[in-house]
Amino acid sequence: MAVGIDIGSKSIKIVELARDGKGWRLKSSGVVGYRGIAPEYAKDEKDLAVISEALKKLYKEAKINSKDVNISLPEHSVYTRRIKFPPLTDSEIASAVKWEAEQYIPIPLSESILQHQVIERHDNTSPPYVSVLLVAVLREIAERYAKVIEMAKLNLLAVETELMSASRSLATEEFPVMIVDLGAKSTDIAISKNGQLYFTRSLQTAGEALTRAIVQTLGIDEVQAEEYKKTYGMVGSQLEGKIKSALEPVVRMVAEEMRKAMSYYQTSEQGESPKSIILTGGTAAMPEIAAVLTKILAVEVIVGNPFSKVFVAPEAVNALSGYAPLYSIAVGLAMRG
Ligand SMILES: Nc1ncnc2c1ncn2[C@@H]1O[C@H](COP(=O)(O)OP(=O)(O)OP(=O)(O)O)[C@@H](O)[C@H]1O
Ligand SMILES: [Mg+2]
Repeated sequence: MAVGIDIGSKSIKIVELARDGKGWRLKSSGVVGYRGIAPEYAKDEKDLAVISEALKKLYKEAKINSKDVNISLPEHSVYTRRIKFPPLTDSEIASAVKWEAEQYIPIPLSESILQHQVIERHDNTSPPYVSVLLVAVLREIAERYAKVIEMAKLNLLAVETELMSASRSLATEEFPVMIVDLGAKSTDIAISKNGQLYFTRSLQTAGEALTRAIVQTLGIDEVQAEEYKKTYGMVGSQLEGKIKSALEPVVRMVAEEMRKAMSYYQTSEQGESPKSIILTGGTAAMPEIAAVLTKILAVEVIVGNPFSKVFVAPEAVNALSGYAPLYSIAVGLAMRG
């Protein structure tokens, strides 16, 4: 089984699973913060070394066994598009993809890695079509992530996007859901249907923007603001509602993007809409965030549990440092095997 490693802008999360019949069992997990620059913005190998050192430390602390790892690339540096083809064979699609991609992917294909996945064949619609997921990333960015893994003396098996991983651990197969990863720097939104990505979007507004809003509104320092954010969040009855009011404009902005994603999906899927919204990432731990978003969007918003398909023994629960939703991407990566 492969180990899942999620390199965020603030912290690295790791999960090792074992196969357990048809399901999975949690072997080990861990998280470590790092003060450095995320690989996509790194200037040189020294920047990458900060991350690979943190990763080595995490490996030891979390007592991870396997050296075979899967990683994901941050959503803001990848391009995910769903496109329709006439009913071609898989190999015809593979050759057509290169020609079609240029229209949909705004980066030079000669400098990119392009992958595609046949999602669904609609043979009985008129006209019939095949939907295909295209994913592209600048080769240089993918190579930096691969370099971090190599510097940590690990063996890279597979690379995918963060929302592909989160969708594997969080989405249900029965109906479409929206997954929202509220991180430190980015909020990533996906609509997932039958366990496959349908739509993705990444905004550069997340936990750090929330803390900044408190700093600016209340004129307090960042450490204090971070503390208030985590303790009171969107609870209106605390500190005369001051924290909630400072956070509200940022939360509304994120909610507006979620609403747009929802209506985009409804328009392209003849009115079908996601049945629920699943929050994940560190900022999903903010008090009352799910309740406030439920109210604004009038759709059920819940905080996801990435271990819902994984057996977690009591002693593994204790070892699970921090907050379970932090691990959605790492669990999804480990499930990929
Ligand atoms: N209880 C809490 N309430 C509010 N925010 C929280 C809480 N706990 C953690 N956070 C926030 O979660 C963020 C870190 O989340 P996460 O670990 O998902 O980020 P990341 O993956 O490193 O970043 P990114 O995905 O944006 O690159 C920080 O902004 C932190 O302030
Ligand atoms: Mg993250």
